[in-house]
Amino acid sequence: MLYRKMPRVKEELSILGFGCMRLPMDGSKVDEAQALKMMNAAIDAGVNYVDTAWPYHAGEGEAIVGRLLRGGLRDKVNLATKMPTWLIKTREDMDAYLEKQLAFLQTDHIDVYLLHALADDRWTNLTNLGVMDFMEQARASGKIRYIAFSFHDGLDIFKKIVDAYPWDICQIQYNFLDERYQAGTEGLKYAAAKDIGMVIMEPLKGGSVAAPLPDDLRAAAERAHYSRPTLADIGLRWVWNHPEVGVVLSGMSSEEQMTQNLESSKAGADSLTKEEIEFVGEAKKLYDAKIKIPCTACAYCKPCPMSVDIPQCFNNFNNAALSGKWDAYKNSYLYLLNESRGNNRASACVECGECEPKCPQHIKIRERLKEVVAAFEA
Ligand SMILES: NC(=O)c1ccc[n+]([C@@H]2O[C@H](COP(=O)([O-])OP(=O)(O)OC[C@H]3O[C@@H](n4cnc5c(N)ncnc54)[C@H](OP(=O)(O)O)[C@@H]3O)[C@@H](O)[C@H]2O)c1
Ligand code: SF4
Ligand code: SF4
Repeated sequence: MLYRKMPRVKEELSILGFGCMRLPMDGSKVDEAQALKMMNAAIDAGVNYVDTAWPYHAGEGEAIVGRLLRGGLRDKVNLATKMPTWLIKTREDMDAYLEKQLAFLQTDHIDVYLLHALADDRWTNLTNLGVMDFMEQARASGKIRYIAFSFHDGLDIFKKIVDAYPWDICQIQYNFLDERYQAGTEGLKYAAAKDIGMVIMEPLKGGSVAAPLPDDLRAAAERAHYSRPTLADIGLRWVWNHPEVGVVLSGMSSEEQMTQNLESSKAGADSLTKEEIEFVGEAKKLYDAKIKIPCTACAYCKPCPMSVDIPQCFNNFNNAALSGKWDAYKNSYLYLLNESRGNNRASACVECGECEPKCPQHIKIRERLKEVVAAFEA
């Protein structure tokens, strides 16, 4: 495993981090035996950064990670979790959530505590409530070690938050499709220049760029001597190719993905050849033109009162647009989404609007679901 040093973090951190938003599933539940196997293998391979958050896996995520890490693994990793900023109404809420999170995670301290998914309105609310005093007190009491934030808003807001405090770490969405989206490359360089350690989330855009290689890219792949079945390897290496990047969090939902991503992590920085860089450029052009809805399948919009499986709706739609295989994805959509499985299709949406303020990509979910209905259910 390769490690990188962040200016304000004492220990070196593994360049691959274990993102726990997409643990392996057994039906509708996390397959904890499989997740433990993967966690053990990742740590054995040198991974020392584990990321979770209050809302992951329908609110069960932190308790699951607590169970995975007990029995010896906790001390081998830097454990990151996040204040659920959208639930904070008072200064007391901050203490209450941190105490609950420590209990769920079965630990007496959190190594990296992030203000989760900051956007302008959330940051204003939190600063009015004295959030940085809270963070400093939590650090002074030993309950957290590093002060951090994760981010989903525009570049100007990002710079404003970066400038507001000498953060130890910040976490941004970054991948070859998002160079100019949210913080983007400019934000990455801006924060790194201020000695903030950079952790990357959604390096494969939530899996969108890890779908099977589209036929349109085969010739470009051959020119780059790239023979992998998906862009996952080159997508991750593209992120590591940026020297400002510290940890790349990967949401690995199977042992196979983890093995592949551990393998990719061996290459580290400067691993992309000129031909591979050109290949990523071709892939970007194709994906930008064909991916219709910028959904990263983070599931923050769930639960929907009508059980519409919003990320699955958008995932099938995007994959169909990308591959041109509309019939195949229509069949998969109709098979995967139905009431008997507990997840509904787009047509079940009653337009209540509950989901939209929760989407970090600011997608007009109600409008876009209508496109899914037209494509798959008309
Ligand atoms: N703070 C925040 O606001 C925030 C937001 C999002 C994420 N995060 C954190 O960042 C972590 C990483 O983000 P992410 O989970 O979105 O990462 P990602 O790497 O962009 O997407 C993960 C998905 O990519 C696919 N994938 C990964 N490796 C693959 C491989 N080798 N081959 C084929 N497909 C592969 C899988 O999709 P399938 O499951 O479909 O196979 C996997 O679920 C999260 O787990 C979470 O800890 C934080
Ligand atoms: S607007 Fe539609 S998809 Fe969104 S929460 Fe309401 S019913 Fe669900
Ligand atoms: S619609 Fe938005 S909140 Fe829902 S999964 Fe997609 S990106 Fe995440």
